[in-house]
Amino acid sequence: MDSLRVLGRVLLSPVLKGPIVRRPAMVGAAESIDLDSAGVAEMQRLRSRHGAGPVQLGIPGRRLALLLDPEDVHRVLNEGPEPFSPASLEKRGALNHFEPSGSLVSTPQQRLTRRPFNEQVLQTDRPVHRHAETMTAIIAEEVSALLGHADFTGALDWDGFAVMWQRMVRSIVLGQGARDDDQVTDDLRRLRARGNFSYLAPQDRGRRERFLGRLQHYVDRAEPGSLAAMVARTPAPEGTEPVQQIPQWLFAFDAESWATFRALALLVSHPGAEDQVRSELGQQGPTSAGPAGPCGPRDQPLARAAVLESLRLWPTTPLILRDSTADTAWRNGTLPAGAGVVVFAPFFHRDDQTLPEAHRFSPELWSGDRDDSDWPLVPFSGGPGMCPGRNVVLLTASRVLGELLRQREITAAEPLDTRRLPGTLSPFHLRFAVRRS
Ligand code: HEM
Repeated sequence: MDSLRVLGRVLLSPVLKGPIVRRPAMVGAAESIDLDSAGVAEMQRLRSRHGAGPVQLGIPGRRLALLLDPEDVHRVLNEGPEPFSPASLEKRGALNHFEPSGSLVSTPQQRLTRRPFNEQVLQTDRPVHRHAETMTAIIAEEVSALLGHADFTGALDWDGFAVMWQRMVRSIVLGQGARDDDQVTDDLRRLRARGNFSYLAPQDRGRRERFLGRLQHYVDRAEPGSLAAMVARTPAPEGTEPVQQIPQWLFAFDAESWATFRALALLVSHPGAEDQVRSELGQQGPTSAGPAGPCGPRDQPLARAAVLESLRLWPTTPLILRDSTADTAWRNGTLPAGAGVVVFAPFFHRDDQTLPEAHRFSPELWSGDRDDSDWPLVPFSGGPGMCPGRNVVLLTASRVLGELLRQREITAAEPLDTRRLPGTLSPFHLRFAVRRS
């Protein structure tokens, strides 16, 4: 019975919403019954029944262990890629459609070159990427165009925002020559749509080759200021497959778009937050932290914290998956090699039995340095598999928010109560009124 309940209330929701390409109608349906809160409640019930766990589920054909204790989350995320490999069976099934040599689906041996390559290009350790100046200029221009359009209609909605976002992403990743290359995004979207069906969908090798060929074209062009230029000049030992690392970036920028749109809703709904974000920009200037500038975490702190809060409240990677490569010992028994391990992030982020801030907008949660002894907020995963793009995400998302709020007065059509936030929030229905300041 427990397994059935977990399947229905915890694991089914991310699958229905679309793990690789979101299905807006399903996300809307999940929101209407607040499916994610039901998942958290189910996990709390499991913990009251089984203690710290982990709990193994009896699912035919797949042995899965569900983590219930923050300490175990850290253990699994830190002890990778062996004995806990990020390249889980489910991820390989989904991502092989468009990036079979991506770092995330690589063997521990292959990761030795692919993961550092990602870190070098994305400058994982730098809060402000050295292409920040180009990124900021692209963002300012695209946000202006978006707001010009919104002035006509009087509203900023998801459709307009998503078009702006894809232009921005192509320019940042592939170069401004790719701004209008809808084909490359469309090819990836179709390949990802197959990823939603994992092993059940046949691979479309022709489209994948065309898509990867297009990415190679942009790497060969190496437009200054783009990530493609970084790919072209970063040393790649044999087996790195540099071009096959790029689809993950293009794909993951989607998650950032939802997080940013939700963060906008948080900021304009929370008293005083909007003005504070504006004054952060006033103090630092949108390009003050360019290549030669300071590289400190003070870059737009509230806007960054709002994005992190958006990701805590509504994680865009709700299921963090690992596969065990060896038998591992736990407080309640042994987990055999070949089992899947599941971290259901919303449970750890929204557990109101242990986290007083669970349902409140609490940007202060992110103001100090965190370590494993803190509550495990894992929007970007953790350990050696932690998202290497997280600083690019925080930089670009905070710049988008800053530009939106600098250029216009924005109000939410339906403001959020930031003291009591819903467990599920579809970004696709959010709508804002826009006025010239
Ligand atoms: C809101 C936006 C994003 C979130 C929440 C996010 C979150 C994550 C998470 C949770 C993982 C680990 C998945 C796992 O453990 O199985 C991951 C991996 C990864 N992310 Fe992100 N990501 C975001 C955007 C980006 C962007 C924009 C890029 C690149 C520009 C990026 C690059 C990567 C790469 C390359 C990996 C694979 C790392 C590896 O193989 O170890 N991500 N991301």
